[in-house]
Amino acid sequence: MQLRRLWLTDFRGYREADAAFDPGLTAVLGPNGHGKTNLLEAIGYLATLSSFRGAPNEALVRAGAERAIVRAEADREGRDLLLEAEIVANGRNRAQLNKQPLRRARDLLGALRATVFSPDDLTLVKGSPGDRRRYLDETLVSLHPRYDQMQSDLDRVLRQRGALLKQSGGRLTPEVELTLDVFDAKLVAAGEALASARQNLVGALEPVLADAYDQVAQQAAEVHATYDPPWMAVGLADALLASRKDDLRRGVSTVGPHRDELDLVIAGLPSRTHASQGEQRSLALALRLAAHHVVTEHTDSSPVLLLDDVFSELDPERSDALLRSLPPGQTILSTAGGLPAGASPGAVLQVRDGTVAPG
Ligand SMILES: Nc1ncnc2c1ncn2[C@@H]1O[C@H](COP(=O)(O)OP(=O)(O)OP(=O)(O)O)[C@@H](O)[C@H]1O
Ligand SMILES: [Mg+2]
Repeated sequence: MQLRRLWLTDFRGYREADAAFDPGLTAVLGPNGHGKTNLLEAIGYLATLSSFRGAPNEALVRAGAERAIVRAEADREGRDLLLEAEIVANGRNRAQLNKQPLRRARDLLGALRATVFSPDDLTLVKGSPGDRRRYLDETLVSLHPRYDQMQSDLDRVLRQRGALLKQSGGRLTPEVELTLDVFDAKLVAAGEALASARQNLVGALEPVLADAYDQVAQQAAEVHATYDPPWMAVGLADALLASRKDDLRRGVSTVGPHRDELDLVIAGLPSRTHASQGEQRSLALALRLAAHHVVTEHTDSSPVLLLDDVFSELDPERSDALLRSLPPGQTILSTAGGLPAGASPGAVLQVRDGTVAPG
């Protein structure tokens, strides 16, 4: 997968912008607040139809404008792609692929694929278990769209079950019991399937994660990732039965894949509570690089790797090491602080005041 060119109209701080990218490494440079992340965000938008900063549509449209347009020319395994998304501040977005309007904007998903690392990814290490589950689930969806369905099936039954638990007021009437039996059967089907997919994924990720971390950290650090739901030993059906009383009393589903944790350990210590800020950041980066690697291995083309502000909090050795160990394929990285001495990007883009120029 290769992004060749990007055109922006009224996206964030950009009135009009046009940028060309190298098939290998492109560096996006410029001072704080001038539009580097915005540029990467626009590329990410074409891949996912959402902002990797979690910003709503209105924030993506330049203040004072009604709509933003993001257009890109890409090459996917020798096939030319022309992608276009129109983002409407308060309305329905539209998309085109190869100049054909798509019935739903969502039909653009999957055409351009990207892996994103952003400063917010520190939450993968420091945040709640839900942040790490989301990382696993998003990676699964990049591997195969069927996981999207599996996750929505699970979410639906969890919502239904939660509503029933609340309604029941803690009483297990025969009706409540019957309905719980039905929900639990669905929860077991979707939950066990998702949990075993997550477990297989972690098995594939772990060695790559450990390598990626060691390369960035420049030492053998013994990184381990484990996804070992406590309910798996007995099976979800029995675990749900065992927790039924508790669930009713508390009015929530206390057991299942929506409560599981991905444990991340560096040199025997839990990284969330023990690792330094720089180590946590290196680990977050390694998690993204590992997912990128696994997705590249298991799908037909490697996603574009977008690294936003990747050198901040990495010392010069780690920054150099990262540049030396970038995966094959295309990488677009941004930095406010200048490039490490050994860097030799194929293209440099200078961002100033909402304009982009080759530099
Ligand atoms: N909808 C919008 N309309 C106009 N300007 C916007 C909009 N959204 C964001 N901006 C402007 O974009 C700028 C931020 O750009 P961006 O986040 O890309 O900066 P950056 O170059 O990545 O900076 P840093 O190095 O600090 O990360 C802000 O100054 C903000 O005012
Ligand atoms: Mg930024």
